[in-house]
Amino acid sequence: MCSIIGYYGKGSAAPILVKGLKRMEYRGYDSVGVATKSDNKIEVRKGVGKVTEVNDSENLDKLPGSIGIGHTRWATHGKVTKVNAHPHPSNSGKVVIVHNGIIENFNELKEDLQKNGFTFISETDTEVIANLLQQNYDQTSDVKKAIINTVSKLKGHYAFVAMFENGILAAARYHEPMIIGIGKNDYFLSSDVLGFIEYTDDAIYIDNGNLVFIDSSGIQISDFDGKPVKHQVTKVSKEFADAYKGDYAHFTLKEISEQPETILRAGEKTQSAIEQTSDFIKHAKTVYITGSGTSYNAALVAKYLMSKYAKIKIEAIISSELSTLPDSIEPNSIFIAVSQSGESADVLEAVNIAKKSNAKILSIANHKNSALVHESSLYLGMNCGPEIGVAATKSFTSQLAIIYKITDKLCDGCLGLDFKQISNSISNILSNHSKIQAIAKELKDVTDIYVLGRGIHHPIATEAALKLKEIPYIHAEGIPGGELKHGPLALMDSNVYVIIINPNDSTYTDTLTSASEIKARGAKIIGISDKKSDVYDHWIEIPNIKEAMFPMIEIIPIQLLAYYAAVEKDTDPDYPRNLAKSVTVK
Ligand code: AGP
Repeated sequence: MCSIIGYYGKGSAAPILVKGLKRMEYRGYDSVGVATKSDNKIEVRKGVGKVTEVNDSENLDKLPGSIGIGHTRWATHGKVTKVNAHPHPSNSGKVVIVHNGIIENFNELKEDLQKNGFTFISETDTEVIANLLQQNYDQTSDVKKAIINTVSKLKGHYAFVAMFENGILAAARYHEPMIIGIGKNDYFLSSDVLGFIEYTDDAIYIDNGNLVFIDSSGIQISDFDGKPVKHQVTKVSKEFADAYKGDYAHFTLKEISEQPETILRAGEKTQSAIEQTSDFIKHAKTVYITGSGTSYNAALVAKYLMSKYAKIKIEAIISSELSTLPDSIEPNSIFIAVSQSGESADVLEAVNIAKKSNAKILSIANHKNSALVHESSLYLGMNCGPEIGVAATKSFTSQLAIIYKITDKLCDGCLGLDFKQISNSISNILSNHSKIQAIAKELKDVTDIYVLGRGIHHPIATEAALKLKEIPYIHAEGIPGGELKHGPLALMDSNVYVIIINPNDSTYTDTLTSASEIKARGAKIIGISDKKSDVYDHWIEIPNIKEAMFPMIEIIPIQLLAYYAAVEKDTDPDYPRNLAKSVTVK
């Protein structure tokens, strides 16, 4: 959830670290810090706020030296304060570390260290690693031994980079991401390729349970016992270099606008994986699909779609819920995991549980080198390029595009897929943004929005509500159309706005009736439909397309609405408060 970076080279480390942190800021962004080493001295600067703000106040990028580490934080242990921000020095200042993840046994370790005279100034678990490293280094005077002894004591999931006063950079990866970038004369250690992509596209994806040591003689990678391990240098795919906003005001708007192209790339060159997936599903007794947040909403669409068009029963499971019913996975089933990042801890845990029942794991993911893909027998690539905005937008429609392709295969082409038409329809909605912008102005002071959809439109309503919560911080709820009279109608009055997802399909008439019932209670109605109606106070028109395909396009106006409402409210659409892009901790 945090981003970590290390640099070892000949150039000036600090500006490179700050740039890398800026590009990875979506991973966590409540505080930031950098430490560099020069003339046998380690200097740390840090503060609360975004990278640019803290850099302006603390001159992070002016630190001297050609070796350094940096961090952006998403608080887990301890409040958002300067003292809790990383890097954390050990008591002697001879070791400084940046860390991502959670050390579960940090309290016990802290007590032991306190008994040995160590003191702590922060509330973090990270400072415990720093002092444990220090203790082990003092005992052995050997960086490698110090790291091995330290990781043998840590419980939890973590990745960290430590910088020692002798200039050695050492890193450990355990269930949190860490990638090495190999430059011409330098090395990078980073949570994400975006931390170094500007300088090199040669990368080593470090295996789980590996250590890395970098000094003037080069790089060494070993397992946690210190045994050297083989590693492979791979080229980072080109599209992951595309992490600039360009002329767009925000990444979120850029990513929403990319969807006419990204849906065409989803599942590209994976025809055989789609065929295999459909084959596995056809022959499986039980099929599950899981995900978190937006990816779970995509999983719900899969449930409706496959059931209606391919007559396949598929159970959608919220990843974080599976651990409450670990025995519910039938042996030898098919388990499809959907995850943009491929890093979400809840999804990985769900996969772990399914594996215990001997399930075959198939993944729909955007990052082919992610932990999830590593755990899967088959991978379907979303290919939508980096999604920096914390709220998922283009990744959702890419997930849907893959789900549509699988379903179409399962029903022998019954969907008659025409993604070119869907792409044009999305472009058409995007070009109508001024109307959506005007409605967003009205939503500025609205506190509650309900989104109503029937059948397959209900997961879209849930996804719409998630966008409205995350981006403009409006309380929103997705309501299944038929449930209105079973409770939610009690909430309808003149203070409420209700978005009605109502394409002219088999759900149309019932949904319009619900809209009328809501309007009769004084609530304002925003209708998303290809058919005009007087019931709508605002009509957002969507193109008329094949019935099955509406979910692919009806989310677009709501993504835009959420984005423009955030702009109106002057909140940051790219980096919503309290959230981080990849939830790599439980
Ligand atoms: C979506 O807008 C959220 N940021 C969040 O719900 C996200 O979809 C969820 O954390 C799952 O992420 P993943 O797809 O990378 O696994």
